[in-house]
Amino acid sequence: MARTLILAFETSCDETSVAVVEDGHTILSNVVATQIKSHQRFGGVVPEVASRHHIEQITDCLNLALEQAGVTYDDLSAVAVTYGPGLVGALLIGVTAAKTVAFAHNLPLLPINHMAGHIYAARFVEPIEFPALALLVSGGHTELVYMPRIGEFKIIGETRDDAAGEAYDKIGRVLGINYPAGKEVDQLAHQGQDVFDFPRAMDHDDSYDFSFSGLKSAFINTVHHADQIGETLDRSNLAASFQQAVVDVLADKTVRALHDYPVHQLILAGGVAANQGLRERLASEVAGIETTHLVKAPLALCGDNAAMVGAAAAVAFEQGQLGDATLNADPSLDF
Ligand code: KG4
Ligand code: ZN
Repeated sequence: MARTLILAFETSCDETSVAVVEDGHTILSNVVATQIKSHQRFGGVVPEVASRHHIEQITDCLNLALEQAGVTYDDLSAVAVTYGPGLVGALLIGVTAAKTVAFAHNLPLLPINHMAGHIYAARFVEPIEFPALALLVSGGHTELVYMPRIGEFKIIGETRDDAAGEAYDKIGRVLGINYPAGKEVDQLAHQGQDVFDFPRAMDHDDSYDFSFSGLKSAFINTVHHADQIGETLDRSNLAASFQQAVVDVLADKTVRALHDYPVHQLILAGGVAANQGLRERLASEVAGIETTHLVKAPLALCGDNAAMVGAAAAVAFEQGQLGDATLNADPSLDF
């Protein structure tokens, strides 16, 4: 059978990425040009700066992705692109590039949801078995997504305020850590103890929704209060206490969802899925559930990248979900 080769674009936030993916599960190339350094001095992503960088980088990323994969436009089966959710100006660069390539080379165009991309990064570990549940944790989203069958997504729980990654980035700033702070807070947490007993909002209510803004405020207030009375708190204990509160709520809600929605696989995906504390905790929780096993997105593919878009696109290709020249960016795209 002929192989399916998909050229994928991802420009939803602060990574310009182009990949070539074979049959939805084999990465031939995955070029990621990060802009983090340009945004760090502002403490977060500046949309206008992001768009400009995408414009500067996208052609080089495209050429490099084809070269590294050892393919030409003639070998491709389709062109895929993230069209939402994300920053509108950033998304438009990828959408325009993908439409141009598809039109110029007469290739089908596959519009892909960024969050579906994060979930399908699991395909690089093993095939997804349905029904499946995904815990999607990133800088912009915190969601529990139930997938009864391939291509179908139902959000059963989500954050009512901050996303988990956003909370990491905000408390990281208070600890003097550069944006994005998640990885460093995670490392610091492993050197400390949970001594501050921060709040675990909505942990025992009967929804699958999350809330992290109270935790973030409690953290900031604790540090400011200590500053005012001239006390210096242990940074690693602060990080460990924060992380324990986040992981407790994410794990408790996920385990409850697994009981109400029995599934073959729990997929952990999104930037915060790289968190060691979360990976370890979910592994031990899921080990106690006989019918479910945990599939963690590969560490290198938890953050934004085009390979995951190529994995999701293989499904869209099989299902004939094609876009056309009218495709537009949709910054608040839902499932
Ligand atoms: O999925 P992603 O790359 O971009 C979005 O689509 O938002 O996620 C980025 C988020 C950032 O908030 C970053 O601080 C967080 O993921 N992050 C982590 C870790 N690595 C990245 N959060 C906690 N622990 C980590 N190890
Ligand atoms: Zn993302």
